[in-house]
Amino acid sequence: MSFSITENVTWVGKIDWSLRRFHGEELSTHRGSSYNSYLIRDEKVALIDTVWGPYAKEFVEDLKREIDLKEIDYIVSLHGETDHSGALSALLKEIPGTPVYCTANGVKSLKGQYHEDWNFVPVKTGDVLDLGKHQLQFVEARMLHWPDTMFAYLTGEEILFSSDGFGQHYASEMFFDDLVDQGELWFETMKYYANILNPFSMMVTKKMAEVAEMNLPLKYICPAHGVIWRKQIKEIMDRYVAWADQYQENQVAIVYDSMWHGTEHMANAIVEGLRKGNPELVIKVCAMGRGDANDALTEIFKSKAVIVGSPTVNRGVLSTIAAMLSQIKELSFKGKKAAAFGTYGWSGESVKHITEELSAGGFEIIHPGFRAMWDPDETALAECRKMGEEIATALK
Ligand code: FEO
Repeated sequence: MSFSITENVTWVGKIDWSLRRFHGEELSTHRGSSYNSYLIRDEKVALIDTVWGPYAKEFVEDLKREIDLKEIDYIVSLHGETDHSGALSALLKEIPGTPVYCTANGVKSLKGQYHEDWNFVPVKTGDVLDLGKHQLQFVEARMLHWPDTMFAYLTGEEILFSSDGFGQHYASEMFFDDLVDQGELWFETMKYYANILNPFSMMVTKKMAEVAEMNLPLKYICPAHGVIWRKQIKEIMDRYVAWADQYQENQVAIVYDSMWHGTEHMANAIVEGLRKGNPELVIKVCAMGRGDANDALTEIFKSKAVIVGSPTVNRGVLSTIAAMLSQIKELSFKGKKAAAFGTYGWSGESVKHITEELSAGGFEIIHPGFRAMWDPDETALAECRKMGEEIATALK
């Protein structure tokens, strides 16, 4: 399928309604995704990106219905990750020798993945591809989120092709930001930023300043996933600036798992204390036994503080919490506070372990944490309420 964005620019990608895990099994995609490819028709014809490998054949067949492939003069690969380059091999078998414009790191990435010596044309910031009436201006966007990533700006149409930046894993036949459910759109946009781009926030800040400095007129931002921004361009750019700057709302996230409900009882008592300490504070409780790690990480992204709980198991923590601590560290959150809690039966290392991991992850520890032996009794629960109250007060 395809749809027109402007008279000269057509979306020719793939909407993947059934996708539920991405990056292997690492990232949840509750609302599917899309792999956006764009065809620009001018005196010369350029194709920007392709789709994920499993859809390569379908993509090439659909593209043949849209255009005689021999009319494609240039392929632009903004980013070599396989969800965007996965159909290059199939496409270049049909039109061998077509130049592939990408960054120098893009050449390395594509060669490393496909082991083909295609007709690469390395480009860098400031380089221009003349299509006739329109030009594509390239802007490198290193580490947003791979070393090879670049943006491309189409003059005349005033379109920024932004690769993964400003994207969402969000399948929709409505195509544009103003036509979809706004709650879903903004949740998925934030989840994408929190789980994929947050570690590179310093680069986001620099790139947003650079783009602002360029003062480009913008009618559309066309990302590599999800809907096209046309009505909320300033809003999405402002939010990226805010998200990259140690973002937090008046929220605290409790992330825990429990074996026999003891740590759960502690979590509930901490919630009571938090509410008593600051009724304005938004409290999100993420029970990780059945919870979604990426949704929980999004709640941490929004929070001033995270309180992590696990019982002690074999001198460590439950595997759900071990995995969460690993991901929390990888995402390089900045400016957030943390504390730990958990039950134990004999050795009782979990609180110390969680606290050390959160500290190593850059969190400021605002409470020494609390551990309760066996199932917490009323004295222990009162201590949990006190802990919640103290944390809420410290977060004011
Ligand atoms: Fe959507 Fe980094 O690939």
